[in-house]
Amino acid sequence: MTERTHEVHLHDPQTLYRHWEESQWNPWDIDLSVDQRQWADLEDRSLVSFVLGSLMVAEERITTKFSGLVGAEGSEEEVTFLATQQVDEARHMQFYARFQDEVVAEPTVIAAHVQRARALVSPAFQTIFDDKLVAAHERLRANPSDLGAKIAFVTIYHLILEGTLGLTTFEFATRFMTREGLLPGFVAGYSKIHHDEHRHIGYGIWFLRKAVLEDDSMGDVVRGTLRDLLPAVAESLTPPPGADASALGASADELRAFALDGLTRRLTIVGVPLNTL
Ligand SMILES: [Fe+2]
Ligand SMILES: [Fe+2]
Repeated sequence: MTERTHEVHLHDPQTLYRHWEESQWNPWDIDLSVDQRQWADLEDRSLVSFVLGSLMVAEERITTKFSGLVGAEGSEEEVTFLATQQVDEARHMQFYARFQDEVVAEPTVIAAHVQRARALVSPAFQTIFDDKLVAAHERLRANPSDLGAKIAFVTIYHLILEGTLGLTTFEFATRFMTREGLLPGFVAGYSKIHHDEHRHIGYGIWFLRKAVLEDDSMGDVVRGTLRDLLPAVAESLTPPPGADASALGASADELRAFALDGLTRRLTIVGVPLNTL
């Protein structure tokens, strides 16, 4: 079943679940042989290492700080869909870890890859993934029937981490790698991940829109969560000191404009336009 209001076209969790059943992929089916050869010859690895490291750390957080949402109060269809998202996130983490094992570093456990990659991420990144996400997840786990806690969590996770940071990183990282003919196996896996992410973001927008439609005051929960998070989000979209940002072929302003444009569109659909923040 699909919900249509004006021009908004959102899939409900049951439809998203059916899409998941048709979208299975295996991280070990992706050929990384060209990536291995390219990595060995790559002179300046700083920008690519930063992107790969950030994704490794983010996906670990996103995988291990999700179960509270699966356990939160919701319909059987919603819980079923969220269980598939939990599997997707684990699969994404496994793909990034396989890439670390076979291309970037010596094979080791995921925790060791994450720990090494953590040296690359910014303080703003830590604020978002270690402080804000973890706190929202703990709150939801402690109060599975608290709708406000669920809305705050989905705002951070689906709207900001996946819908704003995730889509922006994908757009510019794959644009750069494709233009340079770099790491085709990574781009193939990341594109599969991106396809999954659209389903996840679709759920988040469906859920937030429904919650705000049913109770106007829930819009204030979305607003408060965003106000608290957006400074760190803007900061995290700035390339790290030392990395040659011009190599990316896009300025920090372009990155922010892309992120803001998507967020503006999604907030309008949710019913909490950006100018009401
Ligand atoms: Fe993911
Ligand atoms: Fe996701």
